[in-house]
Amino acid sequence: MSTVGTEGFATLDGARSKSASTVSPKANSYIVYDELLRQRKAEASRSIIVQVQKENLCDDVLLYCSQFGEINKIFHYTSHIIEHSQKENKDLVFIEFKDEKHFEAALTASTHANHQYIIPACTPMLWFRHTKSSSIKKKLTSNKQIEIKKDSCKVLSKMEIKNKLAKVDSISEQILTLYDFTKLNDAGTRLRFFTAYQIERCFKSLFPNLVVVPFGSSVNTFGKQGCDLDLSLILDQNNTEKISSSLVYQTKYFSGQNKTHVKRLMETIADSMSTFLPGVSNVKKILEARVPIIKFDHLLCGVECDLSTTNMTAYYMSELLYIFGEMDWRVRPLVFTIRKWAESIGLTSKIPGPWISNFMLTMMVLFFLQQQHVLPSINSLKLSASQNDVRVADVHVDCTFLRDITKLPKTKNTDSLEKLLLDFFSYYSNFDFSAKAISLNMGKPVLKSENHPLYICNPLEVNLNVSRIVSIDSLHRLVLAFRDATWVLETKKERNHESKGLLSLFSKESIQKNWKESKKTAR
Ligand code: CTP
Ligand code: MG
Repeated sequence: MSTVGTEGFATLDGARSKSASTVSPKANSYIVYDELLRQRKAEASRSIIVQVQKENLCDDVLLYCSQFGEINKIFHYTSHIIEHSQKENKDLVFIEFKDEKHFEAALTASTHANHQYIIPACTPMLWFRHTKSSSIKKKLTSNKQIEIKKDSCKVLSKMEIKNKLAKVDSISEQILTLYDFTKLNDAGTRLRFFTAYQIERCFKSLFPNLVVVPFGSSVNTFGKQGCDLDLSLILDQNNTEKISSSLVYQTKYFSGQNKTHVKRLMETIADSMSTFLPGVSNVKKILEARVPIIKFDHLLCGVECDLSTTNMTAYYMSELLYIFGEMDWRVRPLVFTIRKWAESIGLTSKIPGPWISNFMLTMMVLFFLQQQHVLPSINSLKLSASQNDVRVADVHVDCTFLRDITKLPKTKNTDSLEKLLLDFFSYYSNFDFSAKAISLNMGKPVLKSENHPLYICNPLEVNLNVSRIVSIDSLHRLVLAFRDATWVLETKKERNHESKGLLSLFSKESIQKNWKESKKTAR
């Protein structure tokens, strides 16, 4: 089995018996980001998904597919994406074969049905029909022990999360519980890499050097179950010219700097995916934006996707976030809690607009952890970089920083999650947003170079502000919310059962009450 896993990093095993300040999960061994992506892609390349009419047919699928070879991983999941205003519920089985030849054997044995009414694409997205051969009870060999996990991609409802949090005593444990039950799990991660691989596979015969790389919260380990999938399509990954070659490919003229060219390319990609790829639905082309994207739903994988082209800077940004998440076990649970808090009280939204995003909030948490000496500055990661770490993205963006963090000294900070959470809110309650910018590169506040309400220096393009879009009104709301959260955590020591610990932070009513009061005093 693969060594990759997003599951189980911060488990509560052994944690409950300890005091809140010492609650700490078991550490995983560190995998360099490129290797993690390589392993995930390899898994995706030998995986199939099979739609079944009913959940109880999963065992038959396992039995039938076992004839092609050994199965590494199998799980059941349901996809509920809305299509044409109708909620679709599909039962599916995900199967990873141990070997690519077993995967090939399964595809070779598959067929099309109703030839006259279909685009005859051959993809590893299949459906299961009962025939005489599928009901033959073949003797199971090495797959005997495999157990099919049901409903693997379930997203917990607000009430379910509330009930889980109400069962644990300390805020530190609640933070870990929240993380454990809401983080993107192995099944969700596999489906996201599978989605990326299917698009890559679709265009590979024309563009052998094309890659589709997932980035953002689906891969940087800050994603929650059900999060969107950000994808970057790169037409030619090995764009180095073989100077010694006398045979040169005939090609069409194209310039990545020419907006019309890029638009036409993206339109063609969107139309091809929409026409040829099973599962791809609700395709929307948003091509006038600064970064043009294609939005679509993958109904068979149950994910909503944003595809852009050649966005390698965002890829390295995801790597940077992944590295920070790996540096200390408290980073991800704290980020999850603060994102959840912001979502619960309406500070963030799925719709983009002049308010704070999850990505900006993550930057703020990382910056705060730099102030606590839990995390190092990016400049120090740049200074420790070796020749192997040199990367340049999108022609001019320097993405060189240390990749192998096992070389870094461990932090001496041993604060509990509860303390870090309170200190986070209190730090930003008193931050001088009017004069100072947040610089993860320097690891300390710096003077703003432009007068945007919230200034978070882009770690890879230092002259850009990642929070440029945030309005003064949104910043005010944010600061009031920080103050309110500080107040809630400091004063509500006596918690009643209903609004216990973190739950009192996630309540909209309490924040609105405080906003009203603070507005009165401001008048
Ligand atoms: N990104 C960036 N600069 C920005 C915004 C985004 O480099 N100003 C990159 C980051 O790598 C980010 C990714 O694009 O992680 C995707 O952006 P977005 O979807 O907004 O954030 P996610 O981190 O994916 O969070 P969410 O779960 O809210 O989608
Ligand atoms: Mg995203």
